[in-house]
Amino acid sequence: MPVSELTAVVTGGASARGIGRATAHALAASGWNVAILDLDEAGAKDAAHEVGERSGSRTAGIACDVTDEDSVAAALTALDAVLPPVGALVNNAGITSPVPFCEVSGAEWDRVFAVNVRGAYNITRRLVPGMAERGFGRVVFLSSVSAERGGGVFGGVAYSAAKAAQLGFARALAREVGPRGVTVNSVAPGLIDTDITAGGLDADRERALLAGVPMGRKGRTRDVADLITYLCREETSYVTGATYDVNGGSHIH
Ligand SMILES: NC(=O)c1ccc[n+]([C@@H]2O[C@H](COP(=O)([O-])OP(=O)(O)OC[C@H]3O[C@@H](n4cnc5c(N)ncnc54)[C@H](O)[C@@H]3O)[C@@H](O)[C@H]2O)c1
Repeated sequence: MPVSELTAVVTGGASARGIGRATAHALAASGWNVAILDLDEAGAKDAAHEVGERSGSRTAGIACDVTDEDSVAAALTALDAVLPPVGALVNNAGITSPVPFCEVSGAEWDRVFAVNVRGAYNITRRLVPGMAERGFGRVVFLSSVSAERGGGVFGGVAYSAAKAAQLGFARALAREVGPRGVTVNSVAPGLIDTDITAGGLDADRERALLAGVPMGRKGRTRDVADLITYLCREETSYVTGATYDVNGGSHIH
């Protein structure tokens, strides 16, 4: 089935300067219909409108808290009514936390896992069975270089652990659903120019981080969006269980 008859779901796509919104634009430009699910309903609708205007694709912006199973179920019911079947899921909704391990509370730990891991479960669990039934699907997780190199960017241990959990999740799921035409991959961005740190990354620290980036700059959301779009193509059918770095060379392994 051509992607123009399918929908790509991007969680966390509301953020104006975020990876999710850039990904929604890139997917729509390559022919997908796009649904943006986000806690921020107004932002999701604004993103959907912007993406639809620019691409001519069909889009929807729907309120959704990925940590809440009922909210995910309601969002997917709303989506079903307005867009074609889901062929791709980008698990992009995520939060970070810089709290050092020796200070982190159980509540903070759970908060980070709730969005990055349980949230990805809540939506992937509901969408993958339909993809497997139709014999086609693409799932992409937004992990992080922090999972691979043990932090050292902005997020603390909780964030690195949650992002590493996503890698195991993606790999095991890839093995399970590969025989049914569904690929599951992860991207591991380095420092990307978005608002996720909410101003929490000071200029000195940022300079020090950039000194360790061979490409000499922060990543652009477009850099990540293009890679995700590549992994979602119908033609990219023999890449699964993989982790793709997009980090400017800050971690080479
Ligand atoms: N920016 C970076 O440097 C970087 C690096 C590596 C990985 N990542 C990952 O990429 C993804 C996107 O990051 P970003 O920098 O664009 O972040 P961002 O903060 O700009 O956007 C995140 C979006 O997720 C949404 N969101 C948060 N909690 C949610 C929930 N419970 N339910 C639904 N939506 C929710 C927010 O409303 C927001 O629109 C995240 O998973 C992040 O961990 C980012």
